[in-house]
Amino acid sequence: MKDAVASELLLHATEELAHADMLALRIIQLGGTPLISPEEWFKHTHCGYDAPTDPFVKEILAQNIKGEQCAIDVYQKLLELVKDKDPVTYNIVLTILEQEVEHEEDLQSLDEDLDLLMARQ
Ligand SMILES: [Fe+2]
Repeated sequence: MKDAVASELLLHATEELAHADMLALRIIQLGGTPLISPEEWFKHTHCGYDAPTDPFVKEILAQNIKGEQCAIDVYQKLLELVKDKDPVTYNIVLTILEQEVEHEEDLQSLDEDLDLLMARQ
């Protein structure tokens, strides 16, 4: 199932980049400065980063599911924070949250398919 998982993760990566773009633009609109260096991302990340050191598909899926669940949690908190205060940011965060929920679901179903395949062998 490596190809199916790789395609899904590539699609997710494209969407994550779009999220970063939407958020950076909104930060600039609000007069802020987005963090632009990877060192700053590591310092301020909410979810951390697990390098994919174990190539086993099940482990890659587990790492990414954990990342999506953390992202969902962070965006839900952000949504609460801007609710009734900033409708533009609220809409952006809601759009991103909907995609993160989809990502998590997609990866969970790939993980379930993998379990079924492994059970047959
Ligand atoms: Fe995601």
